[in-house]
Amino acid sequence: MSLLVIVLAAGKGTRMQSAIPKPLHKVAGQSILRWVLDSARSLMPDNIIVVKGHGGGQLQRSFANDVDLLWVEQETQKGTGHAVKVALDSVCAKSFSQTLVLLGDMPLIQPSSIMGLIAKTNSRGVGVLTAKYENPFGMGRIVRGLDGAVESIIEHKDAAPDVLALKEINTGVLLLPTDKLKEWLKMLAPDNACGELYLTDVIAIAKAQGVAVVANQIQEHEALGVNSQADLALAERAMQQRLVAGLMDIGVRIMDPSRVDIRGQISAGADTCIDVNVVLDGEVSLGSGVYIGPNCIIKNSTISDGAVIEANSILDGATVGEKCIVGPFARLRPGANLSNEVKIGNFVEVKKSYVGDNSKINHLSYIGDAEVGAGVNVGAGVITCNYDGKNKYKTIIGDNAFLGSGCQLVAPVEIGAEAMLGAGTTLIKDAPAKKLTLNKKEQLCKGSKSLERLLEEKA
Ligand code: UD1
Ligand code: MG
Repeated sequence: MSLLVIVLAAGKGTRMQSAIPKPLHKVAGQSILRWVLDSARSLMPDNIIVVKGHGGGQLQRSFANDVDLLWVEQETQKGTGHAVKVALDSVCAKSFSQTLVLLGDMPLIQPSSIMGLIAKTNSRGVGVLTAKYENPFGMGRIVRGLDGAVESIIEHKDAAPDVLALKEINTGVLLLPTDKLKEWLKMLAPDNACGELYLTDVIAIAKAQGVAVVANQIQEHEALGVNSQADLALAERAMQQRLVAGLMDIGVRIMDPSRVDIRGQISAGADTCIDVNVVLDGEVSLGSGVYIGPNCIIKNSTISDGAVIEANSILDGATVGEKCIVGPFARLRPGANLSNEVKIGNFVEVKKSYVGDNSKINHLSYIGDAEVGAGVNVGAGVITCNYDGKNKYKTIIGDNAFLGSGCQLVAPVEIGAEAMLGAGTTLIKDAPAKKLTLNKKEQLCKGSKSLERLLEEKA
C-alpha cells in the first residue's frame, strides 16, 4: 500500500479580502497550510504534493526548508477536481495505490481522524470525512440514499432546498483509489453554478460504478474550512482551546482557558500556573511550579522551576533561572540570562546580559551588554551606558558589588567584587574591588537677588 497526499492550496481565497495568500494566514502563530502539512506528515505518506496557484511563489518560499514537499502549479483555478488532476499528472500515479486529498484551508483537522478514515476505507473504495453542521451555509452537502449510503456531494450553490436542509457536510478530506480517481477526473464537467470541475462530483461517479463510499463523521470544529476572516477567528479560538487543553492535560493550571493565547511550541512542568491574558509565543519552555502573572507576553524564552513572572512583564529571548522573581512591569530582551533566585523589579530592562545568583535589580534600571556577578545589588535607576552611537560596549560587575541609586556606568567599564558605588556616580573608569567609588560633588544652596527683590516689593 502506498499513499499519495495531495494538498489543494491554489485558490485565491477571495472571501478573505486579503493580499496574503489564504494558506499563509496564521492560526495560533502557524500558517494554516503548515497545520495541514503537520497532519499530512504524521500519516507518513510516500509523497505529499502541494498544489499552488494564487500567490504560489510566496507560498512556496515560505516552505523553502520543507524539502519533502512536491510543488505543482495549477495555473488557472478551474476547481478542486482540476487541481487534483494537475497534481496526479505531475507524478507517476501508478506508484500510489491510494490518494488522500486534503484542503489547504482546514487547520484543525486531526491526524487521528484521517487515520480512522484510512482504517475504515477499503483500499479499492472511497472514503469521505463528514461533519454535522448546525449552520452548513456554503458547504458541500452529503446526500445519502434510503439505505443510508453516501450517494453524492452537492455544493451549496447548486443545491435545491431539500438538499440545503441537510446538515451533514463534506469536510473536503477524501480518500480514493488512485487509478480509479484518474479515470473519474476525466469524467468531470463544469456544469455547475461556479463553472468549475468539482472534485466532489467523483462521489456520484464512484457510486454509479458500484464502488463503496464510506463516510466517517468528525467534530464540527475540526472540519472548519477557513474561507473568511470570520472563519479565521473561529479557527483561532478552536485551536486555542485545543492547545490550552493540552497544557492542562500535563498538569498546568490555567486560570481561564479562554484568556490565554498560545502561538508556538510550549512545554511546561506540573503545577505551573498561567494567569489571565498571557500570550505565549514561539518556543517557550516553562519548568514546574512556575507562575506567569496576568498580562505577560513570553516569547522564545526558558523559565525554570519555581520562577515567578509578575503581571505585565514582557520577555523575549530570555532565560530565567530557578526561583527568580521578575516584574511586575519588567522587560527581558534577547540574551537576558538570569541565573537562580535573581530579582528583577518594576521598569527594569535587561538585554544581552548575564545576571548571577541572588542578584537584585529592583527598580527603574537598564542593564545592557553586561555581566553581573552573584549577590550584586543594583540600586534604583542605575543604567549601563553601553552605546556611543556607533558601537556597543560591555559592563562587568563583580560578585557582591553594591551600586547606589542613580549611577551611570559608562561602558566599557568594570566594577570589582564587593565594590561600592555612591549614589549618582557617573562611572567613567573602572571601580576597584572592596572600595567605595563616588564622584566628588558639592551641594549648593543660593538665594536669588531678583527673587528677594520681588518678595520685598510684594510686602
Ligand atoms: C470545498 C468543497 C466543499 C466542502 C468545503 C469544506 C469542493 C468543490 N467543495 O468548498 O464540498 O464542504 O470545501 O471546507 O471541493 N483550490 C485549488 N484550486 C482550485 C480551487 C480550489 O487548489 O481551482 C483549493 C483552495 O485553495 C482551497 C481548497 O481547494 O484550499 C478548497 O477550495 P475552497 O474554494 O475553499 O472550497 P470551498 O468552497 O470551501
Ligand atoms: Mg474552503
